[in-house]
Amino acid sequence: MRVLLVGGGGREHAMAWKLTQSPLLKKLYCAPGNAGTGLTPLSENVPIAATDIDALVAWAKDNAIDLVAVASDDPLALGLVDACQAAGLRAFGPAKAAAEIEWSKVFAKGLMRKYNIPTAAYETFTDCAAAAVYAKAQNPSPERPLVIKADGLALGKGVVIVRDAAEAEAVLRDMMEGGSFAGAGRRVVIEEYLRGREVTAMCFTDGGTVFPMPPARDHKRAYDNDEGPNTGGMGAITPVPDYTPELAARCAEEIMRPAVNAMRAEGRLFKGILYCELMLTADGPKVIEFNARFGDPEAQALLPLLESDLLEIMLAVEAGRLDTITPQWEDAACACVVAASGGYPGDYRKELPITGLDALPKDILVFHAGTIAGASGRLVTNGGRVLAVCAKGDTPGKALGRVYGAIDRIHFEGMFYRRDIGALKPL
Ligand SMILES: Nc1ncnc2c1ncn2[C@@H]1O[C@H](COP(=O)(O)OP(=O)(O)O)[C@@H](O)[C@H]1O
Ligand SMILES: [Mg+2]
Repeated sequence: MRVLLVGGGGREHAMAWKLTQSPLLKKLYCAPGNAGTGLTPLSENVPIAATDIDALVAWAKDNAIDLVAVASDDPLALGLVDACQAAGLRAFGPAKAAAEIEWSKVFAKGLMRKYNIPTAAYETFTDCAAAAVYAKAQNPSPERPLVIKADGLALGKGVVIVRDAAEAEAVLRDMMEGGSFAGAGRRVVIEEYLRGREVTAMCFTDGGTVFPMPPARDHKRAYDNDEGPNTGGMGAITPVPDYTPELAARCAEEIMRPAVNAMRAEGRLFKGILYCELMLTADGPKVIEFNARFGDPEAQALLPLLESDLLEIMLAVEAGRLDTITPQWEDAACACVVAASGGYPGDYRKELPITGLDALPKDILVFHAGTIAGASGRLVTNGGRVLAVCAKGDTPGKALGRVYGAIDRIHFEGMFYRRDIGALKPL
């Protein structure tokens, strides 16, 4: 099989690493990929942006691609899966109308309300003045904050927790009337602040059958002790010690299956990976949001433990016959720590040489994210999150010990990483 993988981050390198182990695969192409996907045997990069839908479809047609695997959020929201299908190409991932569960928080909240899926209480607004009146009436305080969310995809910057009415009004004005959110903030969700610890619960689904994956926990803030700005994710572990088998069973029965069934009932069959971001509250697990693809860096922590053939799973999802296979996972832990560019998630330098990757212990896996082959083939930085350093172990602690024992052998100017991945947030 000839597969085109769309995306270029650490998640995509982990998927490329796994897909190229499939006996079904003849050749993998990554658009645009990164230095890691370019170096993976059987894999080659194609210089087309993940958002250039017409060019991707044309290239896939011209190059006799058997499956287009859409790994990142933007092409899903832009309808790449629909465009592939219209062109007679098979594609892995939800169609645009199904991916709306990620690209519109207003849609996702409405779905949960209609189908009684546990989530934070909320209201939605298109009018800034009405939103500000509502926010003020909620009487937000440091003890009872409010959460304001831009409706659309906002690169992790569309959610603000506010602690008084004046702050709420300022945030609403910026989101709904300022220029910084473009269309993403025309509609907003204002919701109740949930207390607890977060967990990522993902599943493979063909719109009917649901296979939950082991849980993962990522760490979104840039610095230790959850300080600093939000990022795309600074590291992840799997499994998650406080996410008990009882909670996993509840999540499958109260959240995952109802959400997949709800999408089917709405005429929006969801095929692909449904990512449930949960808050483990005193009242049980509640949905913070849904995503329509693998998490990054959760994929880097989970895929090393997937024993089954990822390509076979994707084909079964695409064909709507997921009931004919059972994905198997190694009963072990895995940890992933992201090495980031100094200044990320703000401004940072690029094209800095990366060294030390050839001197790592054999049990360390490195997935590239913001990397590129520079002049004379030298590996240089090309993004904020540069590398994900991963290791397996019997427990998350042992896996983390391996990662932290090796990560300092890697070097690029300004490199930083969190030293507390996997630590439990105090409640
Ligand atoms: N209702 C809520 N209560 C408490 N924290 C929240 C709530 N909603 C979101 N958050 C926090 O904000 C983060 C981002 O929110 P989320 O809805 O996942 O948006 P996105 O990932 O698209 O930026 C979450 O990971 C969580 O830490
Ligand atoms: Mg989120």
